[in-house]
Amino acid sequence: MANTIFVSGATGTVGSEVIKQLIKKGASVRAGVHSEQKAGILKKLGAEVVAVDLNNIKSIQTALTGVEKAFSLSPLVPNLAELGVNFVKAAKIAGVKYIVRASGLGADSPQAITLGKWHREAEKAVETSGIPYTLVRPNSFMQNYVNFAGYTIKTQNAFYFPHGNGTISLIDVRDIAAVVATVLTESGHEGKAYELTGSEAISNYQIAKILSRLTGRAINYVDVPEDTARQSMKDMGTPESIVEALMELAAIIKAGYASAVSPAVKQITGKQPISFEQFAKDYLQFFK
Ligand SMILES: NC(=O)c1ccc[n+]([C@@H]2O[C@H](COP(=O)([O-])OP(=O)(O)OC[C@H]3O[C@@H](n4cnc5c(N)ncnc54)[C@H](OP(=O)(O)O)[C@@H]3O)[C@@H](O)[C@H]2O)c1
Repeated sequence: MANTIFVSGATGTVGSEVIKQLIKKGASVRAGVHSEQKAGILKKLGAEVVAVDLNNIKSIQTALTGVEKAFSLSPLVPNLAELGVNFVKAAKIAGVKYIVRASGLGADSPQAITLGKWHREAEKAVETSGIPYTLVRPNSFMQNYVNFAGYTIKTQNAFYFPHGNGTISLIDVRDIAAVVATVLTESGHEGKAYELTGSEAISNYQIAKILSRLTGRAINYVDVPEDTARQSMKDMGTPESIVEALMELAAIIKAGYASAVSPAVKQITGKQPISFEQFAKDYLQFFK
């Protein structure tokens, strides 16, 4: 189908929300899934589901056949950059006409941390591909507090990050998806790079206060020492290079470098970014 939009990372936090919002806009969506057993919900939403392994260019090429526009995102893995480059190679062969690539805030900074450098490598492949593109660079997700802290908030009334008192202009993934769905369905965004943040920077201590008030329980933020954070990620089997990349990210958050606020969400979607308060109300079941 000529107007089909392909979405990678389709069962993930960002991809699944992008699909919901594209389908709401009436788009015809092909969901690229890694584990097909997780695809039921996407089929129910009305997406066409295809298997794809971003490590395998041929598999991506097959998944992209007949696709006009594509959303590209790499999972957080040590070869994140290579998976992004693979996507571009396959998109060129398949004749894709437009790519929206998601990376991370600060990817193009001369002082980029390792994670940013990985993302930038994939962005450069998109930029030099000859395929029209838009880059989106989101800050840390509000949904991290569900995915990585929801369990301990529920069971221990506490959440653990090595962020000190650093503030972060957290973004709700629903706002990232709204931007991605807009640029994929409207013209005028080609060649642009958008930094995506919420409308305010808040600290984990402020987040603990919001969660305490909304849940009616005292929720504590535990500022974890670096070594403890590093060890606990290793204990969970996180690959060494990812542990070190995430520790670099934590260090810049702690130093206050993740607090800049961008106007892009409002400019592109016409709506104010979702506040952490609203996010926490909408996801309260994951904290209660
Ligand atoms: N979390 C944050 O705060 C944050 C902030 C800025 C940027 N980012 C960036 O956002 C990206 C992660 O997005 P996310 O949170 O939506 O990820 P996610 O929830 O972990 O989902 C990753 C998706 O990729 C799929 N996948 C894994 N390996 C694959 C492969 N080899 N081939 C095809 N698909 C594969 C997964 O499927 P299976 O589960 O079936 O394997 C899943 O659908 C990373 O690039 C990260 O750097 C994250």
